[in-house]
Amino acid sequence: MVLILNGPNLNLLGQREPEVYGRTTLEELEALCEAWGAELGLGVAFRQSNYEGQLIEWVQQAHREGFLALVLNPGALTHYSYALLDALRAQPLPAVEVHLSNLHAREPFRQHSVTAGACRGIIAGFGVLSYKLALVYLAEVLEVGPPG
Ligand code: DQA
Repeated sequence: MVLILNGPNLNLLGQREPEVYGRTTLEELEALCEAWGAELGLGVAFRQSNYEGQLIEWVQQAHREGFLALVLNPGALTHYSYALLDALRAQPLPAVEVHLSNLHAREPFRQHSVTAGACRGIIAGFGVLSYKLALVYLAEVLEVGPPG
């Protein structure tokens, strides 16, 4: 089971700056991730919070909850949350950072991720497919395959 975490403002997906983040809602993204996970043989749990502390607690607890890996879109916390960086460093699961938008084509403050250093890698700029690509990587790492 992979835990997919979404940070501040991602509850507004679909209505928030659709020219940047697309028209898929968070609920639709959750359904897509479940379908992609099923194709790859991965169960997924999907959570969102606007609160840094809640995200940190989910990261801290993920291993104890029995998850095998993390996919994380920290939203703007990406660019300044050393607390989230520390939480990621303090836990043993492989983590992949994802972003809908291409951070490197945006404002300078978005071009640096403080959290990516605690992740296996970062996938940014492919809209909702960034999440699929993260799951494809984790299916390889966790050595699972399609069911049947
Ligand atoms: C984002 C990029 C961040 O800079 C921004 O604050 C977000 C969304 C993305 O998915 O492209 O909230 O993480």
